[in-house]
Amino acid sequence: MAMSRGLFFTFEGIDGCGKSTQACLLYKRLTSRRGEDSVVWTREPGGWDGGEKIRELLLERGTSHAMSELFLFMADRCEHASRVINPALDAGKTVLCERYTDSTIAYQSWGGGIPLSRIEEMFNWCSFPVPDLTFFIDIGPEAALERVVRRGRPDFLEKKGASFLERVREGFVFLSEREPERIVRLDGGLGIESLAGEIGDKAEVLLHR
Ligand code: TYD
Repeated sequence: MAMSRGLFFTFEGIDGCGKSTQACLLYKRLTSRRGEDSVVWTREPGGWDGGEKIRELLLERGTSHAMSELFLFMADRCEHASRVINPALDAGKTVLCERYTDSTIAYQSWGGGIPLSRIEEMFNWCSFPVPDLTFFIDIGPEAALERVVRRGRPDFLEKKGASFLERVREGFVFLSEREPERIVRLDGGLGIESLAGEIGDKAEVLLHR
């Protein structure tokens, strides 16, 4: 029997929304039942061998041209998809990815002003795999900035401040309203445990289908 392709889950939201915590909790929940080998937990930018260089370029050094920033995120995703995401899905594994295409639309279009149609055309050129389900953890920019500052060392994107993050958040809201089947909008103000419960239950529904 041919192996069925694995499920692809992504986590999205503005900086400090709690994506990593939730991805970690879902990873633990899924691997406790199915074993470590059945789930791949990754992130963008930089989730592939060598990708740390692009991540550093984007987040620590920064870029001066909006299109070079976009191209770097796209190049990172092309390599990530072909080296990590697609092979894992082809092997029937579940993939959990922190940030993906919705981040590019929210940050580079809503935040950075690049037209949505241009970004989506690039997605088509690259044939990126589409997530089966995306968890958008929605928090306000003030709460986000507070968390980011508490964590220390905000990176250059985070230094753009509350009005930038509010625009980015509006981008995620737009996407979740345009694609309600794929994108689940979750109230990031809920406690960690209740959020994890909701996310885990939704993931299990797809896994058992
Ligand atoms: P992130 O992975 O969120 O790290 P942390 O949560 O530890 O701060 O940081 C990645 C940053 O890159 C974040 O500010 C969002 C941004 N980003 C884009 O602007 N476009 C993209 O396509 C992606 C994947 C990320």
